[in-house]
Amino acid sequence: MKIIVTGKGGVGKTSITAVLAHILSSSGYSVLAIDTDSVPNLAQSLGIPYDKASKIVPLSKNDKLVEERTGAKPGESWGMLFSLTPKVDDLVDNYGIKISENLRVLVVGSIDSSKEGCLCPAIALAKAFLRHVLLKRNEVVIVDSEAGAEVFGRGLAEKFDLMLCISEPTLKSMSIARKLIKMARELDIKKNILIINKVTDIENAVSLYERVFGDEDIPYHMVRLDNQLYELEVKGLGVDNLGPNSIIFQDINRLCKTICYLHKLKV
Ligand SMILES: Nc1ncnc2c1ncn2[C@@H]1O[C@H](COP(=O)(O)OP(=O)(O)OP(=O)(O)O)[C@@H](O)[C@H]1O
Ligand SMILES: [Mg+2]
Repeated sequence: MKIIVTGKGGVGKTSITAVLAHILSSSGYSVLAIDTDSVPNLAQSLGIPYDKASKIVPLSKNDKLVEERTGAKPGESWGMLFSLTPKVDDLVDNYGIKISENLRVLVVGSIDSSKEGCLCPAIALAKAFLRHVLLKRNEVVIVDSEAGAEVFGRGLAEKFDLMLCISEPTLKSMSIARKLIKMARELDIKKNILIINKVTDIENAVSLYERVFGDEDIPYHMVRLDNQLYELEVKGLGVDNLGPNSIIFQDINRLCKTICYLHKLKV
């Protein structure tokens, strides 16, 4: 199962990716969590201490690796030929960081060329790696993405089985989610679920959903606001410190059951 998590800034993509990755891996699945944010922080959310997490070099910022694999130095590639099919099949083993028995995280960095300037070889390497992971690896893959699925482009985006589009319970956030889901459909991502996160008033969230998505058939799932998450972040701790009775854990556990049911997996 290959999942992409999208949504506008600050809605809870990383937190939800991290909790979902922990729940799926503790259910016995091998999970690879991937961070494609230009300011990556998924590793820390998953439980790697700040001092260690802040030293991780994203694949697309690893100039030596990019040059070794693509044959071109980032930033010096104008007019140069570089490989669009670099060797990537060893990267999970060499750059994946173990969080627990069944869970690894790999920090790729942004694949959005408009954000990264002219780093074409770096983005070529990152995309080749993602293609490999989506096509060849057997793990459950969860990608925390800062931009929408469109940066993955055709040939890659449709390899995702599921997009979780995260939204806050506001009109603005849901309108953006609606646009992202429309784009994901155009890119042939097979299933989309809207996650309404940080919910405090369920009735209000439903009425906003009906207003924005009334004419569409998009399943939604609510995740309530959980102050425990904030308390952990203040202490610099990851979601691995959430108890199984925490609100967000319970709500994402229900989401996990829905996802596994949809994909005929046991949980
Ligand atoms: N269900 C929730 N309850 C309480 N706080 C939450 C919840 N979900 C997310 N948050 C908080 O919202 C903030 C943003 O969350 P997070 O970093 O996961 O969002 P993001 O979408 O990944 O942000 P970015 O776009 O910057 O990558 C964090 O402080 C997080 O603790
Ligand atoms: Mg994030």
